[in-house]
Amino acid sequence: MTKFVLNETSYFGKGARKELPNEIKQRGFKKVLVVTDKELFKAGVTSKVTEVLDKAKIKYTIYSDVKPNPTIKNVLDGVEACKTYKADVIVAVGGGSSIDTAKGISILMTNPDRMDVVSLNGLSNTKKKGLPLIALPTTSGTAAEVTINYVITDEEKAIKMVCVDPHDIPILAIIDSDLMASMPKSIAAATGMDALTHAIEGYITKAHNTMSDMFHMRAIQLIFENLPAAVNEKDEKAIENMGLAQYIAGMGFSNVGLGIVHSMAHQLGAVYDTPHGIANAILLPTVMRFNGEVCADRFREILINIGRPDAAHLNNQDVINTFVWMIEELSKKVGITTRVADTGCKEEDLSMLADKAMEDPCKPGNPREVTKEDFINLYRQAM
Ligand SMILES: NC(=O)c1ccc[n+]([C@@H]2O[C@H](COP(=O)([O-])OP(=O)(O)OC[C@H]3O[C@@H](n4cnc5c(N)ncnc54)[C@H](O)[C@@H]3O)[C@@H](O)[C@H]2O)c1
Ligand SMILES: [Fe+2]
Repeated sequence: MTKFVLNETSYFGKGARKELPNEIKQRGFKKVLVVTDKELFKAGVTSKVTEVLDKAKIKYTIYSDVKPNPTIKNVLDGVEACKTYKADVIVAVGGGSSIDTAKGISILMTNPDRMDVVSLNGLSNTKKKGLPLIALPTTSGTAAEVTINYVITDEEKAIKMVCVDPHDIPILAIIDSDLMASMPKSIAAATGMDALTHAIEGYITKAHNTMSDMFHMRAIQLIFENLPAAVNEKDEKAIENMGLAQYIAGMGFSNVGLGIVHSMAHQLGAVYDTPHGIANAILLPTVMRFNGEVCADRFREILINIGRPDAAHLNNQDVINTFVWMIEELSKKVGITTRVADTGCKEEDLSMLADKAMEDPCKPGNPREVTKEDFINLYRQAM
């Protein structure tokens, strides 16, 4: 049996945010909590959405204390803001950090028995659907607007909790490329590599199926075709296609899971505050070389679909080399040259990072089994 959970309704394309007021009114919501971050507020991205609310005379308040790699405190403060204002719907405007914080707020508003937050890590098993959440992504990466996951940093333990809960899925997603166009080059590059990592890890994860394969393969194609132009030329159509590509990847991985690039990247985010997309981009080639030992056939299928039909005749080692090379070239084209050593990580930290990665909820989905020693070696190779 295969189960699939997706948004009820989504809109795509430049200017799609104009649909927001009608959707809010038709659904009978009266008071909105807008969840966003300060940088987006300053950059005038949040106002592209609040202007639409203002015009329609929809009441709202703004919670903007979300930090990248958001914390438990961000979620709890947001719950207070939501309660004080008596909001009946949450509108998240931002990248994965804002949308994930909004998901945490949404879940706690209807499941007050889970205010400890740490018990939500992994499969959350909450009893009630969250407070209705509408998500408008401003980055092209996490697909948090369509996934059933949210990632919150537990600062005390220095880990990223990956909370998996169908009760958090936004009731409505609006993927408007106008909100993504202002991303600085470094953020567009990093979040695009996050989307690529989702699509590749989702394509090779243990639970993959025909439907998820369809989403992930198309997402991989779109990302290879559009990411350089979206980042380097700010090409409008490429930016719109990246918005679509990351969403399509989210439709897949949300339902089948990821792998150990994410298990390892989460630790760099939690310990050194490395931006999530950069952490993935650093680790993806090294981990794909490791995974290639068990899934070269899947890499061959991908290569054939991204302009390398000759891969049909290559041996497994050449397939792995070509695939890893293509990922590294894409990273370089969008200006990412970072290594693990640049994050602040030292040789003596590797054992601690590996212990944490062993506990990460994305690990069981990886196509190749992995030991603590493997994790240490993989971090070291990516130094
Ligand atoms: N829920 C999921 O399924 C899922 C999947 C992958 C990652 N994540 C999590 O999402 C978080 C990362 O999210 P992200 O990569 O989208 O970045 P982010 O939300 O952390 O944002 C990064 C920075 O970019 C800025 N920014 C965002 N959009 C902008 C725009 N349009 N113009 C100018 N500046 C902009 C923000 O202000 C912020 O400073 C991590 O915590 C990660 O673990 C969640
Ligand atoms: Fe990710």
